[in-house]
Amino acid sequence: KSNLQVAIDGPASAGKSTVAKKVAHLLDYVYCDTGAMYRAVTWAALQQKVPLDNDAALKELLTNLKIVFKPADDGQKVFVDGEDVTAAIRMPEISKNVSLVAAQISVREALTKKQQELALDGGIVMDGRDIGTTVLPDAEVKIFLVASVKERALRRFREDQAKGIKVDLSELEKEIALRDKKDSTRLISPLVQAKDAIKVDTTSLTIEQVVAKIMEIIKKNN
Ligand code: C5P
Repeated sequence: KSNLQVAIDGPASAGKSTVAKKVAHLLDYVYCDTGAMYRAVTWAALQQKVPLDNDAALKELLTNLKIVFKPADDGQKVFVDGEDVTAAIRMPEISKNVSLVAAQISVREALTKKQQELALDGGIVMDGRDIGTTVLPDAEVKIFLVASVKERALRRFREDQAKGIKVDLSELEKEIALRDKKDSTRLISPLVQAKDAIKVDTTSLTIEQVVAKIMEIIKKNN
């Protein structure tokens, strides 16, 4: 089968987007980073001073918000109402606040609907927290990527450093562990491995090894 739906879920900084992007490229599929959508909404809410736990106000914000992905040389650019927020949505301020916004029902409903529309025709690799469980429960391929908190913090540290963002490793470890906790314990669509997902532990694997593993799973199952 061509046009598969490939769902890649897992905790913060497990390498989902790096790997998902490469898998999408190899399959000539569309790549959709759902975390970027939650980050974009968080960015807009902070910008417009919408209280991050006010479901009704966020719903109102979302009715007119235009989140657009555009392919770029180094991956993908994200625009909110025409403004390039690609770099802004990766800042610590957003990482700190995104889980609160992502726990609000109106935000989840609106973004889930958008994601399901994008995946309707298949041929897509989508990464997030609830893709295999809620967004695309019938996805042909479901991967759950994990890695130790230490390793994930180290990866984010190197990424941030390369981008010129100043961070402290132990702060990152705390932030990642806290975000995992918030994402796994929320009421609606918490971060949890789908029953039919295949777990891949990336702690001691290179990006290429993880990509190869996932490609193997895709080929075996289809
Ligand atoms: O993947 P990333 O770390 O960019 O995701 C940012 C945040 O967005 C997560 O910590 C989570 O709170 C939220 N998220 C979500 N459901 C998704 C993707 C992301 O709740 N499918």
